[in-house]
Amino acid sequence: MNAPLLAASGISKTFAGKGRRVAALDKASISVARGQTLGLVGPSGSGKSTLARILMRLVEPDAGRIDFDGTDLLALSGEALRTTRKRIQMVFQDPLAAFNPRATVAGALADPLRVHGLLGRRQRPAAIAALLERVGLDPGLASRAIHEISGGQRQRVAIARALATRPDLIVLDEAVSALDVSVRGRILELLVELQRKEGIAYVFVSHDLAVVRAIAHSIAIMDAGTIVERGPTPDVVANPQSATGRALVAAVPRLVVGKSD
Ligand SMILES: Nc1ncnc2c1ncn2[C@@H]1O[C@H](COP(=O)(O)OP(=O)(O)OP(=O)(O)O)[C@@H](O)[C@H]1O
Ligand SMILES: [Mg+2]
Repeated sequence: MNAPLLAASGISKTFAGKGRRVAALDKASISVARGQTLGLVGPSGSGKSTLARILMRLVEPDAGRIDFDGTDLLALSGEALRTTRKRIQMVFQDPLAAFNPRATVAGALADPLRVHGLLGRRQRPAAIAALLERVGLDPGLASRAIHEISGGQRQRVAIARALATRPDLIVLDEAVSALDVSVRGRILELLVELQRKEGIAYVFVSHDLAVVRAIAHSIAIMDAGTIVERGPTPDVVANPQSATGRALVAAVPRLVVGKSD
């Protein structure tokens, strides 16, 4: 029961291109508890997105191991990989890039249902309406084109699409970074509510500690491809142990509750 849902250890990845080699990850290890949120924070270029993509098997690591709910994720292929992949979904920063903008909302949501053979054609409209309701959208939005709806609505559709395969884990890479503050707050509330109701775990990737600490149970701080610090969110925020952690905490705007003088 207390075994983590996902444990990645010793993950290394070097990108080689045109005479230049970039060590994006150097023996990075993280673990994600069931139904909880791991915040992955760090400066630009520290390797957060590379690690996120490796968890999704969108990028293959050079070394390391990933245990996902008792299976060796990196050893899977074919049908076994497809089955396990349904259980890990991803939401990106820019939903316009993730969707065909001319597709309708219904079309974008039908894709994962179809790809994973989840429902027959006749049941799909009801499943799509239910998905939209789960993310707080009017089912009437189903017939609208992706490019016609607002950025916040698009990100809700992206979350709905991730939910379609009933995942245990959603990896969110800067998923609220492009949204304005009030929309961002509503999306964070939605994520928290979905987690509470459905027990979904998140890896929440962001360069912004202020956002991460609002949603994450624990935090891993990355710098230059390594995890330099990790722990429960209150501990890391109150007493960061690494130079990178201290710099991130110092950059969080303080909440001004009242003037001291
Ligand atoms: N496909 C790729 N080919 C070559 N280099 C890459 C590739 N993907 C990432 N990198 C390099 O790996 C390093 C880590 O990049 P990554 O995108 O994982 O960082 P990040 O922490 O997500 O940064 P950001 O906060 O800017 O999104 C960077 O130096 C980046 O340039
Ligand atoms: Mg990134």
